[in-house]
Amino acid sequence: MLAMAAGSALLLLVLCTASGMALAITDGLLPNGNFERGPAPSQLRGTQVLGAAAIPSWQTSGFVEYIPSGKKQGDMVLVVPEGSYAVRLGNEASIRQRLAGTTRGARYALTFSAARTCAQAERLNVSASGQSAVLPMQTMYSSNGWDSYAWAWVADADADVVDVVIHNPGVADDPACGPLIDSVAIRTLNPPRRTNKNLVKNGDFEEGPYIIPGTRWGVLIPSMVVDDHSPLPGWMVESLKAVKYIDSDHFAVPRGRRAVELLAGRESAIAQVIRTVPGRQYALSFTVGDASNGCRGSLMVEAYAGRESTKVAYESAGRGGAAKRAVLPFRAASVRTRVVFFSSFYSTRSEDMSSLCGPVLDDVAVVSVRARRPAVVKRG
Ligand SMILES: *[C@@H]1O[C@H](CO)[C@@H](O)[C@H](O)[C@H]1NC(C)=O
Repeated sequence: MLAMAAGSALLLLVLCTASGMALAITDGLLPNGNFERGPAPSQLRGTQVLGAAAIPSWQTSGFVEYIPSGKKQGDMVLVVPEGSYAVRLGNEASIRQRLAGTTRGARYALTFSAARTCAQAERLNVSASGQSAVLPMQTMYSSNGWDSYAWAWVADADADVVDVVIHNPGVADDPACGPLIDSVAIRTLNPPRRTNKNLVKNGDFEEGPYIIPGTRWGVLIPSMVVDDHSPLPGWMVESLKAVKYIDSDHFAVPRGRRAVELLAGRESAIAQVIRTVPGRQYALSFTVGDASNGCRGSLMVEAYAGRESTKVAYESAGRGGAAKRAVLPFRAASVRTRVVFFSSFYSTRSEDMSSLCGPVLDDVAVVSVRARRPAVVKRG
């Protein structure tokens, strides 16, 4: 089957070259990334998918189920976030798609939605181009059970095709006890640059993973080890829990189209290391707001620049109130200064009292502030 898929990819490549069309990765859902095209009835036993190539555009292995929206499991009704179908990965099951037209050395972010279906902690191993990450799913951030996750990798320098794999490494007692997956999308990340105006890269958070239209729960940027590539260029999530990437189509965003929500108190910190000149004076400025997602109450953002810090209180009515600009002046102690933000408290959304929420951070900037020297007056 793999040989056949490779064969048809080659044919496609030949056809595209012949017609002068460039193959490239388009931002958005992968082919059949929402699983709306499913197996033929003969390739299903109940919900179990039979055959590795039964789901168009995908290769599957292990116990994979094709789940229609509204399917009952015990006393739970499985809801699908987009369209009418999703897949479920049982123990050691995986789905794989071969992407043609990736640019060698380019950085890509994968976004997908996932939901737990059983009570135990579930994990997903996402991989491409020899890089992988195990994303924990023990904390549910949205009220409907679905969350979207982002993961990024750099395409091989010596391959034109990339296999993207989502694998459930779980070994649950019930083989059908695995996460549901839907809406798998991709975005090519543009490398952020510092400008002479701002030492922080991607300080406005406009560059980041694809946000699936219609998802009202943003995209989680999971915490990761230092070597990994961040799906939010320039920024690292250093803490135990994720931060949420939100967009102005579904949330209130202080400025531009994107921002981050610090949604797990001190367990959810975002950081960037910037280059500084020891002894020089700088100003770190940033904007705090609320996402208009029912996150009510006294919110507080803590900001660090090296050893100096500030706390910014924000009274939120949960309806996207006026954003607040704050400034932390600091003197650099070394050639690198770590800028860190987190929320001082845990908050939950007023509509369900259970899903985590927090203050929104946007427009982070660091500028050098040179002390004005008294003018030298020449005499004589
Ligand atoms: C995740 O998958 C990749 C690719 O198959 C593999 O190399 C890696 O060891 C896996 N990681 C874990 C923790 O299972």
